[in-house]
Amino acid sequence: MSTRSYHKLEETIPPPPGRCPMDSTFSPFSEEYVADPYADLEPRREQTPVFYSEALQMVVVTRMDDIVDVFTNPDTFSSENVQDPVFPLSPETVDVLSAPDFNPVAVMSNRQEPDHKRIRQYTKRGFSNRRMKVLEPYIRQRSHELIDAMIAAGSPADFAAGFAAPLPGDTVFRFIGFPEKDDDQLRAWCGDRLAFSWGKPSPEEQVDIANKMLSYWRYCREFTAGKAADLGDDFASELLTDHNENPEDLSYREVESIIYGLSFAGHEPVTLLLLNSLLCFLPRRDVWAELEADPELIPGALEEVIRYESPQIGWRRIANHDTSIGGVDIPKGTRIMLALGAANHQPDIFEEPTVFDIHRPNSRNNISFGKGIHYCLGAKFARFEAKVAMEVLVQRMPSLRMAAGQEELERIANISFRGPTSLIVEWD
Ligand code: HEM
Repeated sequence: MSTRSYHKLEETIPPPPGRCPMDSTFSPFSEEYVADPYADLEPRREQTPVFYSEALQMVVVTRMDDIVDVFTNPDTFSSENVQDPVFPLSPETVDVLSAPDFNPVAVMSNRQEPDHKRIRQYTKRGFSNRRMKVLEPYIRQRSHELIDAMIAAGSPADFAAGFAAPLPGDTVFRFIGFPEKDDDQLRAWCGDRLAFSWGKPSPEEQVDIANKMLSYWRYCREFTAGKAADLGDDFASELLTDHNENPEDLSYREVESIIYGLSFAGHEPVTLLLLNSLLCFLPRRDVWAELEADPELIPGALEEVIRYESPQIGWRRIANHDTSIGGVDIPKGTRIMLALGAANHQPDIFEEPTVFDIHRPNSRNNISFGKGIHYCLGAKFARFEAKVAMEVLVQRMPSLRMAAGQEELERIANISFRGPTSLIVEWD
């Protein structure tokens, strides 16, 4: 069994591939991209669908068929880099994360075959329909509580702080089995992971995030040890039971590392999905009224959000050996950014892709959850959680609307995720 640390702290970036179209202006950190990645990528997808971004030092792949090809050829395109920092870390940050007890291992999205398949057979069982059923009353009740608190504090409110951030955080913590008393601390530790692995944090921010990651890892280890002695009805207990029954097949360190990784995977993208949903629904009053009148339309409407304004618009791979994508030669070691958002707006797949249409028949053909062996394990979970949250929101806050003056929302520049950091809402 070959193990790899959860985050690679240093890497050598190979030179640009010789015959790939070069792009000296594209960067996911540019103002244009952060403001509107779809408009930024659209001409590129049509003219040079596979190109090298000099700023990113990665090959960018924009067309659906090429992205699917990469996702479904894991021997050629490794996912080992999906949790790594995009840019080199400062020496102080490397020092923090070199603590001898900071030793989570790659387990899911960044683990390679055959180990990934071995581990996924256990984690998959934990994402059962039964577990969703067990969680439903919690999601519904927590949604009501958060709305009660927003209403009590009065209109206007920041929907991110009041609802979209705490609901998915608390839900995934209950799913894992963390005690409620630790929620605030856990959210504080996990909040900045987006910037660490996918953004461009300053050296000071890196050190701060690294310290939080270290604290959180230590917490996960203590928590796992406590759980092992007192199993309950939660995901961590299921994994520990699997480990006890098959200690050679699912190691204790792997159990700890799965718990460590899930808190981000299960939290941030759902927060952004809730925020992006309101960004799509609220300015279109007819859509909001339709959802209130017929909540059965909510799953289809959410699927259109996941296509049109996805919380995850980019993901990474690295070439395991010399190969090609869309006819462009790709040498071994090339870092690749898959522009999922560009493919979700491809006009030969989605008619009039820039139109938001909750009745679109093929929204579900989006690529936001990936494809192939690493297909998002939490896709059903995310869809279910967002559905329950929206049902409660349309019922409780039919007059919900965006406050005026939010034409330019703040977003964290990064290569993978998309959504505002705050969203001010009002109601009657
Ligand atoms: C709208 C919300 C979400 C989006 C857009 C999303 C998207 C993704 C994507 C693109 C991948 C990588 C696929 C690949 O590398 O081939 C992934 C993997 C994963 N996601 Fe999600 N995700 C979401 C929510 C969740 C939730 C709620 C959880 C858990 C509670 C979760 C757990 C995972 C895990 C464990 C993996 C790794 C699977 C593997 O490697 O086998 N995700 N997700």
